[in-house]
Amino acid sequence: MKIIALLLLLVLLLVQGAYATEQLFQIIPAAISDVAPRKAALGKQLFTDPILSGDNSIACSTCHILENYGVDNLKISVGVNGQKGKRNTPSVWNARYNFVQRWDGRNKTLHEQALSVIENSVEMDGKIENITRKLRQNKHYQQSFNKLYSDGVTEHNIGDAIEQFLKTLVTPDSKFDQYLQGDLDALNQMEIEGFKLFQSKGCVACHNGINIGGNLYQKLGVFDDSKAIEMGDYGRYLVTNNPVDKYYFKVPSLRNIEKTAPYLHDGSVKTLPEVVKLMGELQLGRQLSDIEVDNMVAFLKTLTGKITISAISN
Ligand code: HEC
Ligand code: HEC
Repeated sequence: MKIIALLLLLVLLLVQGAYATEQLFQIIPAAISDVAPRKAALGKQLFTDPILSGDNSIACSTCHILENYGVDNLKISVGVNGQKGKRNTPSVWNARYNFVQRWDGRNKTLHEQALSVIENSVEMDGKIENITRKLRQNKHYQQSFNKLYSDGVTEHNIGDAIEQFLKTLVTPDSKFDQYLQGDLDALNQMEIEGFKLFQSKGCVACHNGINIGGNLYQKLGVFDDSKAIEMGDYGRYLVTNNPVDKYYFKVPSLRNIEKTAPYLHDGSVKTLPEVVKLMGELQLGRQLSDIEVDNMVAFLKTLTGKITISAISN
């Protein structure tokens, strides 16, 4: 198994080595042109309103704090009735650029994701029929939906408005994006050194594309799965029931990674240097030196972009 994994990784690296940096990574465009602004504004209201939860206590933004890069920095978030889930809360910023949603890729679209969270018993615990009824009885929402959708408040339209809003959540203009656009002074010497290591050590085989991740599944523990086994979450296997998918997760985006501690699907790793070192061991079978880790962390911090909530006003 390990040999096959290693060979696959090498092939990946070789294939990707043939491309230039510009093809491996893409910048986040500053302007979003594929959303309906008024529907997105309605989606923003829904996102921040506890009316979407079964007992009116929790909004999407309780866990995904927008101005805090879309996370709450807790190991595990607390849902309705003080219940805890099993997984760390990922950011909603740039989620539109992930190929699937959730750590195990259970949901294909943002629309599906929004509706599934509302229904999830440990997250918002809202039966969608009840939430739809509550919104219909609310004069403000009833009117807003009627203005924008010919069939008013429906499950589909709730999902659509939230999806429109989620699509506006992008963080352009990081130092790394400036660098990719040709401003070679955007990164200092240490950051460039870290970027080189990120490529030469093989991180780039899994973390690439516009989100520097978010575009494939990989096993946690390609070289050593003892930690994954100890964590006890089967990941993708829970969706497919296929034994080869055990401990596979969506490779997470590294955009704004400095802001979204703690790390890994169970939030068990507190700091960036620790998780970088661990990635070297578990995913690449390499022991990284402290200097290499420091340089890579400096590079990862250049992935912090600008949050642009004001793009959509209420
Ligand atoms: C109780 C905390 C909590 C609340 C409330 C919550 N989420 Fe989440 N969200 C999570 C967790 C935890 C995950 C990861 C779950 C998993 O992988 O199984 C997640 C995942 C996501 C993702 C996928 C991100 C990715 O990179 O895979 C999106 C998008 C999202 N939530 C949007 C929403 C929306 C929209 C709402 C409101 C309708 C919402 N969330 C409410 C905790 C929360
Ligand atoms: C074989 C694929 C692969 C390689 C190579 C790899 N990673 Fe990862 N990385 C993953 C996966 C999968 C996860 C999510 C694991 C989990 O949470 O269970 C992850 C998680 C992370 C996280 C935490 C993200 C978060 O939001 O919690 C960071 C940071 C990270 N990787 C950085 C790196 C660095 C730096 C390297 C190179 C030293 C690297 N990775 C190499 C697949 C890979």
